[in-house]
Amino acid sequence: MFINLDLNYLHPNLNSEIVFSVLLMICLLLLYFVMTKKPSNKVYLIDFACYKPPTSQIRSRDTVVKETAESGRFSEEILDFMKKTMERSGLGDSTYVAEVFFGKEYNPSMRDARREVEMSIFGAVDTLLAKTGVKCEDIGILIVNCCIYNPEPSPCSIIVNRYKLKESIITYNLVGMGCSAGLLAIGLAEQLLQVHNNSYALIVSTESITENFYLGKDRSKFLTNCIFRVGGAAILLSNRLSDNTNSKYQLLHTIRTNTSSSDRSYNCILREEDTAGIVGITINKDLLYAAISTIKPNVAAVGSLILPLEEKLLYFINYIARKLRLNVWPYVPNYRKVVEHFTPHVGGKPVLDALQRTLGFTNEDMEASRMTLYRYGNTSSSSVWYELAYVEAKGRVNKGNRVWQIAFGSGFKCNSVILRAMKTVDYDEKNPWTDEISGFPVSLVDCEPVPVFFESPK
Ligand SMILES: *[C@@H]1O[C@H](CO)[C@@H](O)[C@H](O)[C@H]1NC(C)=O
Ligand SMILES: *[C@@H]1O[C@H](CO)[C@@H](O)[C@H](O)[C@H]1NC(C)=O
Ligand SMILES: *[C@@H]1O[C@H](CO)[C@@H](O)[C@H](O)[C@H]1NC(C)=O
Repeated sequence: MFINLDLNYLHPNLNSEIVFSVLLMICLLLLYFVMTKKPSNKVYLIDFACYKPPTSQIRSRDTVVKETAESGRFSEEILDFMKKTMERSGLGDSTYVAEVFFGKEYNPSMRDARREVEMSIFGAVDTLLAKTGVKCEDIGILIVNCCIYNPEPSPCSIIVNRYKLKESIITYNLVGMGCSAGLLAIGLAEQLLQVHNNSYALIVSTESITENFYLGKDRSKFLTNCIFRVGGAAILLSNRLSDNTNSKYQLLHTIRTNTSSSDRSYNCILREEDTAGIVGITINKDLLYAAISTIKPNVAAVGSLILPLEEKLLYFINYIARKLRLNVWPYVPNYRKVVEHFTPHVGGKPVLDALQRTLGFTNEDMEASRMTLYRYGNTSSSSVWYELAYVEAKGRVNKGNRVWQIAFGSGFKCNSVILRAMKTVDYDEKNPWTDEISGFPVSLVDCEPVPVFFESPK
């Protein structure tokens, strides 16, 4: 405006020419930016839902041990191990056990396993559909991850059939990918949403433990019997522009790392027969090594994406100093400055303690993870969603807050998801914690970690 007036005064005809060329320049510049910027669809997390099994499936720690003993299949020695493990596992007295364990005889059929997985899938998806009001025929992408249970037709088909999803739906079924596969599925959905415009993607994370109770004598394989519990989650993502007003979160980053090419990492969690030919999951001593060497690069990658410039600079200067062999401690950036809610997978107290210490998170930051383990047990890949639901039920999620979900498991793999809250999350009656949240957090006696009898690596 100001320049215009000036020019007018000098030479009235010059005015329009200059304005025209300036405008042209601006247009060209804009065009340049638009053409060089990688086009990317914004991905929104409209909402998610966690399955809450019927109260009839609740079992206390003592009851679990008692019922296992009554089966008459196990020695005093292994039952004693189970009892000790349960005491120190971090699990509380109201986790959900699969129905198949209630009978006198443990004799699982395919029908039992299917029933367990269908109950958690349908429970989570029904709740999600009710919460979001999205129509089944609008869902364009479906991804299911379920590690050990692998039926035919696949869990994807179970869902398509039950909800009569459209014929053109794109489905992926991820099996055998461990506890980190739920966040890996979010990453896959994000990539698919870059090429399929105007779509909804439904992600379902679950596990069926019915057929996987280990019946042998090997303690390292028996561990999973103690801590695995029933659970499942369903998540709805969208890249529709109109969803930027009604979504809970925007998906900012998904980061995956793996160390599968290392034999130590690859072999540390392995499903195989024991010496008596009974199938179970072996966890060996290399677990901690594998976890650390896989989580570290993931955390660094997250840092490079979300940390503010000054933290990166400090880290860089420290890095150079250490390269020059100056006597300084490694600088660990303060992740807490940019992440309000941290929800690591419930697995493994030693790993969680190390993560908390290294990244500077407080006990309150770790609360969601510890309380989820206490209330729901280890539900594998769905656990990070129970944790996010916990933080929401506590009324802690405010508009603009960032959430960091991180999960790790066999492979070895580690995956992170960074979300930003698009609104302050209000009371939600369908949140699985809602009717009991005032009773949390419970104080956990600072117990010794589980007495793990790891096998030595081969
Ligand atoms: C989807 O949208 C992106 C930009 O938002 C665009 O670059 C791309 O060409 C679109 N793809 C299709 C298949 O329409
Ligand atoms: C797995 O890790 C290797 C080496 O770190 C990397 O090159 C590869 O891209 C990773 N794969 C995936 C799918 O993340
Ligand atoms: C939960 O299960 C995973 C295997 O899927 C295992 O790696 C992890 O250690 C378990 N968590 C706990 C607390 O033991």
